[in-house]
Amino acid sequence: MAQILLIDDQESVLTSLSILLKRHGYRVECGRNLSDAEGFLSRQSFDLVITDLRMGGPLEGMQVLQAALEKDPAVPVIIMTGYATIENAVEAIKLGAYDYITKGFTNSEFIEKVSSALSIKKTDISPEPSRPEGFDDIIGQSRAIINVLRLIEKVAPSDSSVLIQGESGTGKELIAKAIYRFSNRRHQSFVAVNCAAFTETLLETELFGHVRGSFTGAEKDKRGLFLAADKGTLFLDEVSEMPLSMQIKLLRVLQERVIRPVGSTDSIPVDVRIISSTNRDLSKETLKGSFREDLFFRLCVVPVNVPSLRDRRDDIPFLARHFIKILGERQGKKPLILEPEALNVLTNHIWRGNIRELQNFLERLALLVEHPVAGARDLLRYLPDDSSRDFSPSTSLAEKERDHILRALEDNQWNQSLAAQSLGIGRTTLWRKMKIYGIPSS
Ligand SMILES: Nc1ncnc2c1ncn2[C@@H]1O[C@H](COP(=O)(O)OP(=O)(O)OP(=O)(O)O)[C@@H](O)[C@H]1O
Ligand SMILES: [Mg+2]
Repeated sequence: MAQILLIDDQESVLTSLSILLKRHGYRVECGRNLSDAEGFLSRQSFDLVITDLRMGGPLEGMQVLQAALEKDPAVPVIIMTGYATIENAVEAIKLGAYDYITKGFTNSEFIEKVSSALSIKKTDISPEPSRPEGFDDIIGQSRAIINVLRLIEKVAPSDSSVLIQGESGTGKELIAKAIYRFSNRRHQSFVAVNCAAFTETLLETELFGHVRGSFTGAEKDKRGLFLAADKGTLFLDEVSEMPLSMQIKLLRVLQERVIRPVGSTDSIPVDVRIISSTNRDLSKETLKGSFREDLFFRLCVVPVNVPSLRDRRDDIPFLARHFIKILGERQGKKPLILEPEALNVLTNHIWRGNIRELQNFLERLALLVEHPVAGARDLLRYLPDDSSRDFSPSTSLAEKERDHILRALEDNQWNQSLAAQSLGIGRTTLWRKMKIYGIPSS
């Protein structure tokens, strides 16, 4: 028997629709707002979610939609809406809702939508790979990130060296920690060292330690990080920045599994699993001669390539929601709501600093926007300027045009005549293009 979650803030709607659904043989749970929905979704799975769009919060239904998809990307969601909010319902479809129904519907219209949505759920069990369990801190539903999670799930339990490669801010450190958490060494230590943060000699004593008197200022023995990580995991962050002379010393340690502290003649055995990361293409660095090839092969037994946010734009709404929720909790405020158009802007923006930049931007936005709902205009006002907007060759001309129009409107306080003038087109042309691109007129 299909299980349906029904969310509406009006008691009368809940009562009549749940009676109707039950009469047709469905099981129904009813809730009155986002937090009820989240409660139900965390406790059980549903075959269909039906939610009103406007409840306590102006677009609370949109958040119910996102919460439902976050839990199960294959679940169909039907949005119920009044006439005035059809545009938002259309946006909801773009965000992954199955369908919408305009209030004032008849019982048979309603039941027809329900059964059609449920038949989709049954026949179209998503061919997308499912997310492995246990990676709750790594947000994302895109195929690109799911493939990464599956790979790390597989390699984590082995002691193989893993090299995590990806652009800055893509979550390499987060992934290193996840590998550690899933490894057999999870009860031992995880020690991270940023190879770019030390001069050559300092890096050597940092990693291998030194004995008293080995150089001026070495007043006591120092235990190196290799020993601190013994039986555990050592994370060599930004490993490409390690000087060549240090690379050979590291290679020797990895081959012989012993370290020699600076100034000592003793060799101390160590048992360490190495995870390293870099935002360069390390195999290219070996061709250039700035990274030793033999060390590269030692470190890169399993390569894990973390996709840039550009290559998994679908994850942006999920990440945004996640960060906004955390920010709200941290600041003890209701989380900011992003209008669908605002989410669109976020999704189309090029985040050169990847997830870290997105996270920082949302933190700034939450401070700067004083009203509870942020629209596209708010985003355009606070987003970094054109230089970091998407003008990569992969952007379609239409996207560029749309961006350009939004920017011109913003620059001219949404005065269409002035914006048209600055774009060098007529007002009617502007109006037509705004319609095509779904840009609201105010
Ligand atoms: N998939 C994700 N879900 C949630 N948060 C993420 C995700 N990926 C990254 N983050 C967050 O983004 C920020 C940057 O991540 P992290 O430091 O792991 O990136 P990095 O690739 O190591 O960056 P850099 O190359 O600049 O060192 C962190 O705050 C991290 O928690
Ligand atoms: Mg990092």
